[in-house]
Amino acid sequence: KMPPLAQCYNLLDFEAVARQVMKNTAWAYYSSGADDEITMRENHSAFHKIWFRPRILVDVETVDFTTTMLGTKTSIPFYITATALGKLGNPEGEVVLTRAARQHNVVQMIPTLASCSFDEIVDAREGDQVQWLQLYVNKDRAITKRIIEHAEKRGCKALFITVDAPQLGRREKDMRVKFSDEGSNVQSKGGDSVDRSQGAARAISSFIDPSLSWKDIPWFLSVTKMPIILKGVQCVEDVLRAVEAGVQGVVLSNHGGRQLDFARSGIEVLAEVMPVLRERGWEKKIEIFVDGGVRRATDIIKALCLGATGVGIGRPFLYAMSAYGQQGVERAMQLLKEEMEMNMRLIGAAKIEDLNPSLLDVRGLQGG
Ligand code: FNR
Repeated sequence: KMPPLAQCYNLLDFEAVARQVMKNTAWAYYSSGADDEITMRENHSAFHKIWFRPRILVDVETVDFTTTMLGTKTSIPFYITATALGKLGNPEGEVVLTRAARQHNVVQMIPTLASCSFDEIVDAREGDQVQWLQLYVNKDRAITKRIIEHAEKRGCKALFITVDAPQLGRREKDMRVKFSDEGSNVQSKGGDSVDRSQGAARAISSFIDPSLSWKDIPWFLSVTKMPIILKGVQCVEDVLRAVEAGVQGVVLSNHGGRQLDFARSGIEVLAEVMPVLRERGWEKKIEIFVDGGVRRATDIIKALCLGATGVGIGRPFLYAMSAYGQQGVERAMQLLKEEMEMNMRLIGAAKIEDLNPSLLDVRGLQGG
């Protein structure tokens, strides 16, 4: 029934297979978005509003898309973003992603709400492989401080603080299926008792602190040497405020459309942010990342042309891992690399530094 892996020709193919083979609870948790899922769909379709203006007669015999994100060399400017509950899709959980990331020299962001323990995921790392930590801030700051210090000690290279989830969004697909214990030991981390009637997302998130505010940022900067990146920024005002607060990066993200429905796509926000940063001469002061709906290398190229340092990819790797395990994730990464090489050639860019706004027609975007 399941097509051979070689018949997955792009990232969307993995989604189609995963939908057929995944358990209901897992599919519902991974695939759901908030409310009517308008933002979730928009994340991908927003990329369709941007067109290319390729340059011809550029020597593209060799194409090099290695680059640096937060001081880390990477083979391609995307990272595996944090997605909770890896064992819902694969009995081995997040370490499958770690192993695949190693094969392709790709950075992995470790979620606070991983199914594997943090140490298991770090132990699965080898050599100079790089991992970042995604942090949900606990109401009890002593717990948060311990998590941060432990992550730094275990070699995590950056701290991504999720700022778009003072409360977990309402994911109705997820609420409709009954959440069982499958694949998850994370509810114990919160310490509270768990209400399973609200779906997986709500059941595991009651410890998150809704009072988190800009006032807390100096404290985070004081407790770690890791670069701090705010994940889930959604307008230019907050990017400017992040620069002023002294953090090293932001992720323009709406949490894969799982939080506020009718939040704009990250790529749309990027088009709003970059001209303002350039006008102020601030574009080197902060690294800008984007996630949500990235499914093709052309999506990655568009984000980089606009000025992003890199992009995060979430669901496609969960689907690849759920359907085909580590090999699936590796193939998904390989396909992205092949697409990247081909499309950089066709656009007339031999290296990452060649990507710039003049290669795009963004008149279809708000800011365009
Ligand atoms: C997420 N995301 C997420 N983000 C975060 O900061 N902490 C988390 O625990 C999770 N968990 C999570 C679970 C699942 C199943 C999904 C799909 C997403 C959001 C994630 O980091 C990222 O913002 C989006 O997934 C990016 O969109 P795509 O690539 O999935 O379209």
